[in-house]
Amino acid sequence: MITKKKRPKISVYIATSIDGYIARKDGSIDWLEHGHVGDEDYGFKTFISDIDALVLGRNTYEVVSALPEWPYTGKRVIVLSHTLKAVRKEAELFSGKLTDLTSLLHSEGIKHVWVDGGVTVSTFLEAGLVDHMTISVIPVVLGSGIPLFRTMHKEHTCQLLSTQSYPSGLVQLRYEVVE
Ligand SMILES: NC(=O)c1ccc[n+]([C@@H]2O[C@H](COP(=O)([O-])OP(=O)(O)OC[C@H]3O[C@@H](n4cnc5c(N)ncnc54)[C@H](OP(=O)(O)O)[C@@H]3O)[C@@H](O)[C@H]2O)c1
Repeated sequence: MITKKKRPKISVYIATSIDGYIARKDGSIDWLEHGHVGDEDYGFKTFISDIDALVLGRNTYEVVSALPEWPYTGKRVIVLSHTLKAVRKEAELFSGKLTDLTSLLHSEGIKHVWVDGGVTVSTFLEAGLVDHMTISVIPVVLGSGIPLFRTMHKEHTCQLLSTQSYPSGLVQLRYEVVE
């Protein structure tokens, strides 16, 4: 296993329904706004200001890419896929081993990486490559959808760092993954 000193810090910052889904079955995420009031950003600006690079799963990349504006200008973005042949000019495609990717990013001076997408978070976690998780629980039960965590072959112990609740009903949980 790659030591923490030889790779960037790796964080998850993601929102789920109460029943653990990150999108409806059709990929829609409008329910993330459920109960949202004012200009509260749930710590997002602070979080992203510390991020040097994002690693997106192909499905998340395709959703983000369809937005009217690319939201990650100024950040390095790596898209994981075994099926795509190319990605837009603001991003890079990667299909190799995650340990090779994190070593490469480390050698290029990247200090903090945000990994996004359910399959992607699970594959990083399974590889022992997640340090922190900020999980925002939206007060809605979707009943079905795309799950945050996929089937994994081992358990991952986490230490709760903080909880914060907001007037919208969102509850944010911050964990350190202790393995
Ligand atoms: N609620 C939120 O905060 C939130 C955040 C992010 C995303 N989302 C939503 O979640 C949905 C996407 O999540 P998802 O779980 O379906 O998928 P995902 O993690 O975004 O993408 C999965 C795909 O990424 C590629 N991939 C993952 N790990 C890889 C690896 N180690 N090597 C090579 N390729 C790898 C594969 O693409 P190939 O099949 O091309 O090989 C895989 O099918 C979207 O609807 C998005 O809008 C919600």
